[in-house]
This record gives sequence, structure tokens and C-alpha cells, in this order.
Amino acid sequence: MSTERPAVPDGRQPAAGRPAGGFQMHRPGVTSPGTVRGTAADGPPGPEDSAADHLSPLPDDALLDLSTDIAGKDVEDTLTRLDSELVGLANVKRRVREIAALLLIDRARQRFGLQATRPTMHMSFTGGPGTGKTTVALRMAEMLHALGYIRKPKVHTVTRDDLVGQFIGHTAPKTKEALAKAAGGVLFIDEAYYLFRPENERDYGQEVIEILLQEMENERTSLVVIFAGYPDRMETFFSANPGLSSRVAHHIEFPDYTHEELMAIAELMVRQENFRFDPDAAEAFSRYLRLRMARPRFANARSVRNALDRCRLRQAKRLVELHRPVGRTDLITLTDSDVLGSSVFADAPADSNGSTDEGASP
Ligand SMILES: Nc1ncnc2c1ncn2[C@@H]1O[C@H](COP(=O)(O)OP(=O)(O)OP(=O)(O)O)[C@@H](O)[C@H]1O
Ligand SMILES: [Mg+2]
Repeated sequence: MSTERPAVPDGRQPAAGRPAGGFQMHRPGVTSPGTVRGTAADGPPGPEDSAADHLSPLPDDALLDLSTDIAGKDVEDTLTRLDSELVGLANVKRRVREIAALLLIDRARQRFGLQATRPTMHMSFTGGPGTGKTTVALRMAEMLHALGYIRKPKVHTVTRDDLVGQFIGHTAPKTKEALAKAAGGVLFIDEAYYLFRPENERDYGQEVIEILLQEMENERTSLVVIFAGYPDRMETFFSANPGLSSRVAHHIEFPDYTHEELMAIAELMVRQENFRFDPDAAEAFSRYLRLRMARPRFANARSVRNALDRCRLRQAKRLVELHRPVGRTDLITLTDSDVLGSSVFADAPADSNGSTDEGASP
């Protein structure tokens, strides 16, 4: 367990300093609904402000305008960013919004002094390779931080080797070191099922799971654990470790992308890098995706990114070999020949770089 103490105590009382007080509010009996600000960080005090507004619970008949929570803007920014940077993933985005709503309401309840257990935020992200798990974990950390649930918007990613020692007595210190690094933020355990090796009864992974369980139970530590991995193996992992599973409040699934979504992801990535497909290139890339999806080691959006990197290589080579001055249009345009050079097109000539698309996509 980390010895580091949270800078922001997470006690249930509003006075304990969980940043739940950042509301402007309307109070009955005040002729003009004055704005009362809850935290010093919130700007200059409003006309009705007083220390007591921050420290004491609101009266039962007070009305709290949820849209005035100072965290709301940061949360909305993160959600907007999630919408614009990730194609599809409607169910994931919906779950992230639900979690944001839960925590906003928890903040409002604290303002009224309503006692409740701190909502559990440990999660599992299950999905195939390249389906956006790491990206969503980063946005989730930002959002949980904006809502005062964790102290820093950071994700510390680990795999089995970062947690499990090779010799007796080595595992606990290693796991605790990882927990200390993650303290106050998110501990993201990638391919979490490797922690559990039922075939080896003396496996040290079990020790990690026990330490994690203790840490996840601890209401006082500001730490969120996200277990990530491929769906089938995660299911086996959780059914073998019901204690862990029951402490994971949010199981979020990341489905494989459809061809249409992958195409939209490609268009988005191309735009973000200040390139564009000419019409023939877009058509060729669509065909490329159909072929690539059927091949081994296809990794969803990651394969799209890798394929685009190789298109860029071919474009660069093509432009250099033109031996003429190049303009902006040349520099931003990917043509069908930049796509068709891929070895995935069986009929196309072998890739002159000698690289194969299969090898480059993990
Ligand atoms: N829906 C999406 N829209 C746009 N880009 C995406 C989308 N999903 C993933 N990406 C991009 O694909 C790449 C891989 O995504 P990410 O690392 O989040 O996936 P992952 O599920 O963590 O993969 P792995 O299981 O291999 O670790 C990143 O560059 C990310 O920006
Ligand atoms: Mg990842």
C-alpha cells in the first residue's frame, strides 16, 4: 500500500475538503438569486459569500443549479474531446457520461451534507487490440480529476512484469512501488489476466491480486484501478477472482470497429496529420481495409494508423522521385499508388521498402 497520503482528503463531510463545493446556487429567500461560490479557487467571492457557505451543508430547501458546478466545464471539455477524437464507441461514450453524472450528483449531495459511501470507480476495459482502451483511460483520468475524485489526471500503466517478482519476497515491494507511482491517479493494468496463472499454484500473481484487493477496498486512497484486456480472457480472469470482480463497478466493453468506422478513423487520422486522400486513394484504402481485416493480427485502429504511416512512406518516396518542385497539394495528397503499394494487395507489386503490413501490425 502506498504510504503517500492524498493531498485532498476524501472524507464524506463537505468540510473535509473534497472539492464538491464549487457550485453557484440559488437560495430561496434571497431576492435576486445571488451567486454563492463554494471554493476560494472559484474566483472572487460573490456578494453573499462567506466561509460558512463553504464549510456548512446547505439548508434542506436550498436549490443547487447543477450546471454551475465549476467541474462541469472541464468535464464537458473532456467529453467533447472524447467525441471528436474517437469515432464510434457510442456505448463507451455513454458509460463515460453516466459516470460523470454520478460523480456530479455525488458532489451536489455532499453540498447538502448527505452521507453516502464514496462511489466505486474501479473499472474493467475489455476489447480487442487497438479499440481505444488506453485512449479512453487517459480521458477518464482527466474527467475523474476534474470531478475531484482523484488528485492527478495521470494514468500509470503496468503489466504483469511490473507487479510480479521473480523470487519469494520480491512481489509485494514491486506491487507497492507501482501503487505508489499510481497513487492519486489511475493504475491501468494491461492484459490483467496474466496476473492469474491457475496452472501454477505457487504463482506470485496471486499475491499481487491480494494486495490490489486491499488497496481497492481502501476508501481513503485516491486511486482508481482499471483492468484492461481482451474480452474472453478477462471473463475467465474475473470469474476465477470473484473478489476482484465485485470491486469493479464499471465493466466497459470496446467492440471491434466495423469497416465503415475504420474508414472514418482513417479519414480522421489523415485530417489530423494535415493529409488528405484523393478520391482514388480513399477507394483504395477502403479495399485495403477489407483485405487487412481478414488477415491475422489485425489490430483495429492501431492497424489503420500503421497502414497510414506506410502510406506516408510511399508518398514521400514518390515525391522525392518526381525530381521536380513540389507544392502544398503534392505534400498533403495521398494517392492510390501510395495505398496500393501495400503487400496486402496480392496482385500489387511487392512493397519496395521490403516491409510487410502483417509484420508491422502487432
Ligand atoms: N475510435 C477511434 N477513433 C479514432 N482513433 C482511434 C479510435 N480508437 C483508437 N484510436 C487510435 O488508435 C490507436 C490505438 O488506440 P489505443 O492505444 O487507445 O487502443 P488499445 O485498445 O489501448 O490498444 P491495445 O489493446 O493494443 O493496447 C491510437 O492511436 C488511438 O488514437
Ligand atoms: Mg492499450
